[in-house]
Amino acid sequence: MKQITEQHMINAFGGESMANMRYRHFAVQAEKEKFPNVARLFIAVAHAEYIHAGDHYRELKHLDGGFVANSMGAFGPGDTLKNLGLAIAGEQFEIDEMYPVYMEVAQFQGENSAYRSFDWSYQTEKQHLALFQRAKEAVTGGSDVNLDTIQVCEVCGYTLEGEAPDQCPVCKNGKEKFTAFD
Ligand SMILES: [Fe+2]
Ligand SMILES: [Fe+2]
Repeated sequence: MKQITEQHMINAFGGESMANMRYRHFAVQAEKEKFPNVARLFIAVAHAEYIHAGDHYRELKHLDGGFVANSMGAFGPGDTLKNLGLAIAGEQFEIDEMYPVYMEVAQFQGENSAYRSFDWSYQTEKQHLALFQRAKEAVTGGSDVNLDTIQVCEVCGYTLEGEAPDQCPVCKNGKEKFTAFD
């Protein structure tokens, strides 16, 4: 793998790993504040970030050793309203800056497998952003978010609300690959 794409992959693994952990902590806080659907959303999205981290991790199986990861991490947790703001900022950063740049570079460097891993995350983060924005709106008004079953694709992390589709719109795997959070 070309060096710059490789460093981006290491960074993306770091970013997704931290997002997974942050969202798990945010879920605990949402439970405390009696927002069970917001907590469930954080748990489901944390699972999607775990899938993303795993996809990136497997792209790096040729490595052996310790490497520095430069990843944007949102720090300073607080109440659920603040946590949702941090989650939105993190997803927005990945959508606006991180993944588009990483995808451009991977394409330029002919790293097709890396490109696919970045693209799967990129497409999923847009779903996460929309769900978190809805949750923030509800919590701003003092109530939990109305939320149907959340489905997460075990292959690409794609996340959607409602029934699992016959085919994942991102990785094209069948509905048996989806895990439901309800
Ligand atoms: Fe995400
Ligand atoms: Fe998928």
